[in-house]
Amino acid sequence: MTRLRKVVFPVAGLGTRFLPATKVVAKEMLPVLDRPLIQYAVEEAVDAGADTLVFVTNRYKHSIADYFDSAYELEETLERAGKRELLAMVQGLLPRHVRCVYVTQEQALGLGHAVLCTQAVIGDEPFGIVLPDDLIVNDGPGALRQMAARAADGKTGVLAVEEVPHADTGKYGIVDVEAGGDRIRHMVEKPKPADAPSNLAVVGRYVLPARIFDLLEQTTPGAGGEIQLTDAIAALLKETPVLAHRFAGQRFDCGNKAGMVRATLHFASLDPDLQHLVAGAASLS
Ligand code: G1P
Repeated sequence: MTRLRKVVFPVAGLGTRFLPATKVVAKEMLPVLDRPLIQYAVEEAVDAGADTLVFVTNRYKHSIADYFDSAYELEETLERAGKRELLAMVQGLLPRHVRCVYVTQEQALGLGHAVLCTQAVIGDEPFGIVLPDDLIVNDGPGALRQMAARAADGKTGVLAVEEVPHADTGKYGIVDVEAGGDRIRHMVEKPKPADAPSNLAVVGRYVLPARIFDLLEQTTPGAGGEIQLTDAIAALLKETPVLAHRFAGQRFDCGNKAGMVRATLHFASLDPDLQHLVAGAASLS
């Protein structure tokens, strides 16, 4: 099995769907209950074996680095107050062997460009990408770990996919998969429903070989005038197998308000102190 040592988190987006909160607060720091979205994302990466977390950030997102840094005054205060559980929580956001690397994306030129910014850090090994907007929960191995297990040779790409309503194809990268298998034949970014090859959408998890960087360098602006990761993967799959992985788990699209509310209700339903509120919410809908 390919061990995914390095995982990229593109977190330089503006988060306009959550304005005005995101005028000041990074979208990835918005909480689902008491944990920010980025915490769920890094835990999935660590579960897949990652020890190097690469954040593609910009000058407005310093709070993400602050979040993973130690907080001396807070820790001192908790220590003196004997609040050991809270202290352990703030000190244990990441296992000790995991390190964070921050790479700046100076211009918002697209997801493909954001990934290309990490080339020097990733080097020549397969790596993962997690888009923190897509929060995936399950009881067994995380989605990224499931995918790493399928990229055994270090050359195969694996993309997490899920069926979406036909009307929504314009929000996603859409794949065309070979009949009776998982190998992707073709992939297109945000097609109109009439042009979509299927309703199988890529959600925010990728395992890719380092070859993708050469292809990203050659990728010209595509949908929305941005350098699209999808276009580089469309070139990659002509050279090497790229598999569509129908992950075990439930995805919450926390890039929009409805998804955030659903994710919040999901985690509340698991919390003995909050469960009764979820029952109330259901009866209101
Ligand atoms: C990006 C990708 C798209 C993918 C989606 C998953 O789009 O470009 O192919 O389906 O993430 O969340 P974005 O949501 O950043 O517009």
